[in-house]
Amino acid sequence: MNNLVRISRDDDVAVITIDNPPVNALSPGVPEGIWAAIDEMNGDPAVKAAVVIGGGRTFVAGADIKEFGKMTSGEKPRGNLLPLLLHIEDSAKPVVMAIHGAAFGGGLELAMAGHYRVASPTAQVGQPEVNLGIIPGAGGTQRLPRLVGVAKAVEMCAEGKPVSARNAAALGLIDRLIEGDLLAGALAFTREIADKPAPKTRERSEKLGTTAGNTPIFSAARDVARKKQRGLKAPLAAIDAVEAATRLPFEEGCEAERELFTECLFSDQSKALIHVFFGEREVAKIPDVPKETPVISVNHVAVVGSGTMGGGIAIVFANAGIPVLLKDVDEAALALGMSKIKKNYASSVQRGRFSQTFVDERLRLIAPVLTYDAFSDVDMVVEAVFEGMALKKSVFADLDRACKPGTILASNTSTLNIDEISAATSRPEAVIGTHFFSPANVMRLLEIVRGKKSSKEVIATCMQLSKKLGKIGVLVGNCRGFVGNRMFGPYRREAQFLIEEGAEVEAVDRALVEFGNAMGPLATGDLAGLDVGWRIRKEYRHLEKPGIRQPFAEDRLCELGRYGQKTLKGWYRYDENRRASADPEVTALVRRWSAEAGIAQRQISAAEIVERCIYALVNEGARILEEGYALRAVDIDIIYLNGYGFPAYRGGPMWHADTVGLQKVYQRICEFHQQHGEIWTPAPLLQRLAEAGKTFAAFDKEQVAAEVFEPANRA
Ligand code: 3HC
Repeated sequence: MNNLVRISRDDDVAVITIDNPPVNALSPGVPEGIWAAIDEMNGDPAVKAAVVIGGGRTFVAGADIKEFGKMTSGEKPRGNLLPLLLHIEDSAKPVVMAIHGAAFGGGLELAMAGHYRVASPTAQVGQPEVNLGIIPGAGGTQRLPRLVGVAKAVEMCAEGKPVSARNAAALGLIDRLIEGDLLAGALAFTREIADKPAPKTRERSEKLGTTAGNTPIFSAARDVARKKQRGLKAPLAAIDAVEAATRLPFEEGCEAERELFTECLFSDQSKALIHVFFGEREVAKIPDVPKETPVISVNHVAVVGSGTMGGGIAIVFANAGIPVLLKDVDEAALALGMSKIKKNYASSVQRGRFSQTFVDERLRLIAPVLTYDAFSDVDMVVEAVFEGMALKKSVFADLDRACKPGTILASNTSTLNIDEISAATSRPEAVIGTHFFSPANVMRLLEIVRGKKSSKEVIATCMQLSKKLGKIGVLVGNCRGFVGNRMFGPYRREAQFLIEEGAEVEAVDRALVEFGNAMGPLATGDLAGLDVGWRIRKEYRHLEKPGIRQPFAEDRLCELGRYGQKTLKGWYRYDENRRASADPEVTALVRRWSAEAGIAQRQISAAEIVERCIYALVNEGARILEEGYALRAVDIDIIYLNGYGFPAYRGGPMWHADTVGLQKVYQRICEFHQQHGEIWTPAPLLQRLAEAGKTFAAFDKEQVAAEVFEPANRA
């Protein structure tokens, strides 16, 4: 064996333990270790069978994802798992796989090569490879349908969602659930089956169905994949691979799977999604706030303001089992807020997301209040009142008086200066921004805004809490709009410029939806309310440099009362069910305004629409990065994927720019600069990286290696 796989004996059963922390990935050395252990067990006359179990917190989380990057950058592939799995399946003595934690990807493929599987009831199994832009590559698409049937295998491989051990047992994937000590239960099970013939998964065919029965399953799954995983190639490849299992003998099916796997692995989509996998974990790492930083226990919280955001945030805490006080200024506002929360939960029950019992329990955790009296007990407050500095300051002064020392005072502001807010308190170290995205109980992103004086404990607590709340927390610096909205400004600005230059509203949105965004920029504006940005622009107009081109169409639409969906008129017009259609009136208005402004009209291609909008994101992102308001380019990517509907398979705006090539992006931005003026001045960091032939990803690596991060707070 080796130091990654151990073998020991429990009387007449061998125990093979995989020990590759933290998640027992099948890194080089693990497959070899398992192979040798199987050989040793078969060669030991005193042993009748083997149990394979994971050491530490999990069974096996899959192939080692870090190896994929090496493979696609030209290293010789190591450790093809397929021969190992055949070796296990052909073992003369039975092998029982004992699963706790997760058996994901290659982990489940390994488990399916065993003759039996037992699991802790809390374990999960799954083929999540599509989330990495690939498909199972070690026979998963061939063995899974033989165990659970074609429909379920297609679903698991194409959607990538985990299945609980209980459900897996009902499907026939797990032979026995073991309550209590897993190893003891697995050993007892193994002794029961040790003398029986050992079934080989690959030789089973009773669940593979018939062509007539399977055809509609595959075609329905393809329809679902095209709709729900729009633009992603891997789900369709996974369906093709499962289909191969129903048409071809096992070995040929595996070859077909391998070809599809390799094609996916070398795609830009897979590289982007692997970047996202590691990026989601990277953002949790704050160079000057190490893992050991003490955290404050957050067991009881309060939310100030019961409007859409406040109510959504209260739901987020309640869903995580944390009791929450919800405060508003009068009975009417509070009653309205609570009724919206109840309506929200009722619709979750209706859609089958939550049970009524769960909802009843959550609602009991939300206590509506009109005063700060009970605030002396809470560990954290999230303020979610209207965006206005004077109001926020007065709320924070009240909180300072009402809360015990140590309570975290967080603001949900999306634009205002956290340091100015914190100055209204006697404890600026306790003040931080927690910028939730609307709808707060749905969107995964939480921008955590570090003020100049926010303490490390407060930052560490919020980062950790975000995980508990089911969010992905990204630490950002305190600049106007923070990271996400600061970049969104130039993006939406370009969308408007394009309209003013002659593009159709629908054409702009369509181009960006085809690029993969969840929604087009103009439809997004209508949904959020065009008046929101209009009011902010009016407030900040005095800061605009004279002589720089500014968009005007949206402000003019607002002047006409066209605020978007809420007035049933904005960039589009809406029927009473808020279904959008193109509005010729908008086209006519914009044409007239553009003529008055002397803007030449022209045909604009979808490619230019995408470049103008997306490179506006990239250019602003590069500035943010250089100014230190985001720690890494990947932090910006994670923000855009989780808060702004950017397609994960493009890895985020900065990764996308790397994929296109920074020289090319920089060159286009220089052209836009010439055509449209100062607003398109290339970001100096982008220029430097492009001229040096580097990427944002390389910039991130250099930063990490050199530990050159500064607190994201340079004013
Ligand atoms: N390979 C390499 N590293 C992995 C890994 C994997 N398969 N899975 C997790 N890790 C790393 C993470 O990057 C993280 O590293 P870090 O501490 O340096 O940031 C560490 O392990 C812990 O991971 P998490 O923070 O995610 O820990 P959690 O406890 O929250 O979650 C988990 C554990 C549910 C197992 C989760 O890590 C997970 O879902 N992992 C990925 C599973 C997966 O996608 N498997 C398929 C791989 S592809 C494959 O198997 C192809 C095959 O068909 C040939």
